[in-house]
Amino acid sequence: MTEPKRAFIKSYGCQMNVYDSERMGAALAADGYEIVDAPDGADLVVLNTCHIREKAAEKVYSELGRLRSLREAKEAEGGRMTLAVAGCVAQAEGAEIRSRQPLVDVVVGPQAYHRLPGMVRRAEAGQPSVDTDFPTEDKFEHLPADRRPARNPTAFLTVQEGCDKFCSFCVVPYTRGAETSRPAARILQEAEALVGRGVREITLLGQNVNAWHGERLPDMGTGLGGLLRRLARIEGLERLRYTTSHPRDMDDDLIAAHAEEPKLMPYLHLPVQAGSDRVLKAMNRRHTAEDYIRLVERIRGVRPDLALSGDFIVGFPGETDADFEATLALVREVRYAQAYSFKYSPRPGTPAADRAAQVPEALMSERLTRLQTLLTEQQRAFQASMLGQRMQVLVEKPGRHPGQMVGRSPWLQPVHFDAPHDTRGHLVAVEIESTATNSLSARLAA
Ligand code: 5AD
Ligand code: SF4
Repeated sequence: MTEPKRAFIKSYGCQMNVYDSERMGAALAADGYEIVDAPDGADLVVLNTCHIREKAAEKVYSELGRLRSLREAKEAEGGRMTLAVAGCVAQAEGAEIRSRQPLVDVVVGPQAYHRLPGMVRRAEAGQPSVDTDFPTEDKFEHLPADRRPARNPTAFLTVQEGCDKFCSFCVVPYTRGAETSRPAARILQEAEALVGRGVREITLLGQNVNAWHGERLPDMGTGLGGLLRRLARIEGLERLRYTTSHPRDMDDDLIAAHAEEPKLMPYLHLPVQAGSDRVLKAMNRRHTAEDYIRLVERIRGVRPDLALSGDFIVGFPGETDADFEATLALVREVRYAQAYSFKYSPRPGTPAADRAAQVPEALMSERLTRLQTLLTEQQRAFQASMLGQRMQVLVEKPGRHPGQMVGRSPWLQPVHFDAPHDTRGHLVAVEIESTATNSLSARLAA
């Protein structure tokens, strides 16, 4: 018996990459690989990269530099470490990666993952390759399903990929390609399989998930609302979430589903990016600040306890002090449960990258600090509002202290509590006893 070959997969960036890494892991496992938690001694290392902000590509090159010594150690033992770069940097840079770092054997874009095992086999035979095609077939159809019991009661499921919105700062339409939706039948099949493996909560993923318009089943409605309502009928599935949404695609049925479908959790990630209409226009967002505020009012009208999350970019080219103040004003009006905020980072090939009026770094930092201070205040206020509340928690894992368990509230907050036995994978009722900025502490409710 020879030992199984070992593969290490490192994921950067968004949840879609986490999902893709799991699927690549399952494909490699079907090809005889054991998936390991560290690169040391691995026969294959896959870096699943992100290109959305900052010097993402640079990070990948320095990681590859660090892997050089591990690869040399492996060679000294008479073995071989194959290096693969996957994800959005692979898509954006393509063959350039191998010119800059000849150690790399395989470059594979996000739409070609089903070809990874074959590419790895060829690389092991001394034949490196680059594949950044956008094939028309659904890569997920060609990736084997994972049949192992789930390690976690929560799982991601990609239902939509790519984006046709072309916000002027964003690389996604270029790295992930045009918007495509998977058929409902496949999604349902995959969701049922996840539940069969012990999953209790599924988060539907897509760069523009609420634009989902895949082939329907006969017994369901249209759009993401119809898909969520259909999935909610799966017995044993307790909770549904979805991310990320564009304000333009929040249709009436999806909003109504938030009121009518108890399994749909009261949490919505709905990025606005900025609060100034001038900036929103320059970003090509196709909505105004007012459109967004009215939309949030409508959703809260049907689901008053909704926790709202968002994304913001400060220092978009041409952003004035007044524009930035408009962002702060929008945040004050909307009130977020939590949010992500970033300094604008010019992405090569996107329309905004070459605009003249780039905002100086120091000013961006100052604006980011002010925005984050406000968002943190709002997050604390939201957390504090949980004190004394009774809620259901989906238990995920043991906590750091003996006897402690950690789960998630309906609003996605981590909740710590003491439990007499391991309640992993169950919904338990707790009462919140104290709150912190990022988590809650509770005791089991009687
Ligand atoms: N610079 C800064 N932030 C960006 N994002 C996307 N592109 C850029 C960029 N060029 C942010 C947006 C998006 C989130 C995923 O990343 O806020 O919603
Ligand atoms: Fe990027 Fe805009 Fe598409 Fe979101 S909606 S992925 S920010 S282009």
